[in-house]
Amino acid sequence: MINDIEVIKTKSSKINEVDFDNLKFGSVFSDHMLVCDYKNGKWQAPKVMPYQGITLDPSAKIFHYGQSVFEGMKAYKDAEDNVWLFRPLDNCKRLNISSKRLAIPELPEDYFMEGLKALLEVDKDWIPKKDGSSLYIRPFVFASGEGFHASPADEYKFLICTAPSGSYFSGEVKVLIEEKYSRSANGGVGFAKAGGNYAGQFYPTQLAKEKGYQQVIWTDDNTHEYIEEAGAMNIFVRINDTLITGPTSDRILDGITRKSIIELAKAEGINVDVRKLRVDEVVEAAKNGSLKEMFGAGTAAVISPIAGFGYKGEDYDLPKMDDTYANFLKKRITDIQTNKAEDPFGWRY
Ligand code: COI
Repeated sequence: MINDIEVIKTKSSKINEVDFDNLKFGSVFSDHMLVCDYKNGKWQAPKVMPYQGITLDPSAKIFHYGQSVFEGMKAYKDAEDNVWLFRPLDNCKRLNISSKRLAIPELPEDYFMEGLKALLEVDKDWIPKKDGSSLYIRPFVFASGEGFHASPADEYKFLICTAPSGSYFSGEVKVLIEEKYSRSANGGVGFAKAGGNYAGQFYPTQLAKEKGYQQVIWTDDNTHEYIEEAGAMNIFVRINDTLITGPTSDRILDGITRKSIIELAKAEGINVDVRKLRVDEVVEAAKNGSLKEMFGAGTAAVISPIAGFGYKGEDYDLPKMDDTYANFLKKRITDIQTNKAEDPFGWRY
């Protein structure tokens, strides 16, 4: 059990240089970070220190073999300046699930939780209060141990950095349903929040961007016939009044926003179907008018409505409606996260 966490404070805060009214996503960083090293077979005591660069040997295994995992979380401030997190232990547990798959030593949960609290305590002035803004939190672990031998490193670093942030997407989101490339495969690492899962998406996403789409919707690697996830977020599709999302698997990230939306929607009386969803079914629904909504759900994306999708050279627009599940669920979940509404689920921390 960790007791006191050492805190070394910065001598020169950068907070006055930040325009809190015009925040982008994840591009300015708070004054401090949490650092914890794994060496001699164990995680050492975490400490809070001024945000700064890290020196690594060029042979550090992160550069060569990509042993790295991360999490995305947010801290919110309510009208009385209380600070809230959303299901933080779930992030901690998922970080360890990802680590295990990449042969990275798991982190004691109290190092994560107490370290995070100590970090937020020193940087609480960095938590924005404006609606739609929050302090984005990025916990991550990577292999700092040295050597070209293709085997797990013997040293690692766990860091938490934070960034006051506005929304992840700046405009309308159009997606391309992927027919050729794959994000993940059975028995692979798609369920893990591994850095390499994101790197592998960049090239196909660049191709999609050149055609005017902001994100790729990944389909299963075997047949490309089923909708899986969008990489930066899980995907929900509303056909008539039923909200459908694919089941988690080896290939799909067990999103914390995803599972919260499923629970919340059910509690609100919305019909939710967690099942495999064929691309053909979505295309057919778009053609016959029963496709009402598509949206992405994730920590960074929150709930991001999708304006249209491309598939096999055709574009399909989603209807423009005011009364959407996306708007309703986004308000419900953000009200819970920011302490504007009761939290019957016990998610707020
Ligand atoms: C998050 O939603 O927090 C993520 O980690 C996704 C990332 C692409 C920003």
